[in-house]
Amino acid sequence: MFEQALNGMKDGVLMVDSTETIIFANRALSAILSLSQAELIGKRPLEAIRLIELAELIAEVRSTGSAASREMKVVYPQEKTLLGSANLIKTDNGPGVAVIVQDISEIKKLENLRQEFVANVSHELKTPLTAIKSYAETLIHGAIDDPINNRPFLEKIEKNAKSLAALIDDTLEISRLESRRGVAPFAPVHLSDEIEQALETLAPRIKEKELEIIKAGEPESCTVSGEAEHIYRALLNLLDNAVKYSPAGGRIELACAQTDRELRLSVKDHGPGIPAEHQPRLFERFYRVDKARSRELGGTGLGLSIVKHIMEIHGGRVELKSTAGQGAEFTLIFPR
Ligand SMILES: Nc1ncnc2c1ncn2[C@@H]1O[C@H](COP(=O)(O)OP(=O)(O)OP(=O)(O)O)[C@@H](O)[C@H]1O
Ligand SMILES: [Mg+2]
Repeated sequence: MFEQALNGMKDGVLMVDSTETIIFANRALSAILSLSQAELIGKRPLEAIRLIELAELIAEVRSTGSAASREMKVVYPQEKTLLGSANLIKTDNGPGVAVIVQDISEIKKLENLRQEFVANVSHELKTPLTAIKSYAETLIHGAIDDPINNRPFLEKIEKNAKSLAALIDDTLEISRLESRRGVAPFAPVHLSDEIEQALETLAPRIKEKELEIIKAGEPESCTVSGEAEHIYRALLNLLDNAVKYSPAGGRIELACAQTDRELRLSVKDHGPGIPAEHQPRLFERFYRVDKARSRELGGTGLGLSIVKHIMEIHGGRVELKSTAGQGAEFTLIFPR
């Protein structure tokens, strides 16, 4: 009964007796450590498992007589982070130790990602902030009376302050999307409405670059179930990139195609495209093919990461087709 219950657990359980011999190891422990029960039972922990931290944990519990826990790293056959929690138990030949072993690799990975994100955000915030600070200092130290430079310097301050604001907005947006806070209930969304709205937002830049916008596949009949505000954001990000990276006088093609299983909305431009080696990482936060150029164009490097999150929330995905030098085509794919 008792053994059955322990074997049904998802956490590993290990018991050693007073002679430091393993008297019990449940199935989960075998799986976590990639060792069979035969390789464990009757052996000493260090001999069977080769985890110094585990042996130390057991020794600590024995010497202090109270519960203790410790993080342990396994590198073979797969890298894992484990958390061992141990306590004294009674065994047939005297005091033993029971250890519960949890596989916390996933939690650790998320924690690392979060830390990395915070580090990246701080680094990205520093760039515009440093520029603002140094232009302000230059102005204070005399440039304010320099009629040629004072205005351009102020304009630089304004531009960098805008970058800073965009960075903060996008970072907050990502954290909202990740925790799925503020996602309204799904309703039918007419993609043509969102397309029109996004084109309107970008109209001054489209006009300035004399871009030609071509619509195919009757977007009027394209409707998905989702949240209009976020779908608009995703589309705006793709169109914003297409406008940004199109050559002056270039053509942007918007197309909607439906099958009975999915709906595909694509945005195609004829700009520089994205070299194959950059494509797998393009949807990562802050990933940019050319960091300096993207910043110069006012980019945060978070746009595509936001698009990816939005599509995940809709049970869909985003696809990229591009050959360097021949433009890029991004497709939002919604399930139907
Ligand atoms: N249509 C495109 N053509 C060429 N490169 C692109 C295109 N879209 C995206 N990229 C590349 O992918 C990178 C990441 O795009 P993303 O939209 O995430 O960031 P961004 O445009 O630099 O900044 P943001 O969109 O946050 O303002 C860009 O910096 C650029 O290198
Ligand atoms: Mg972008």
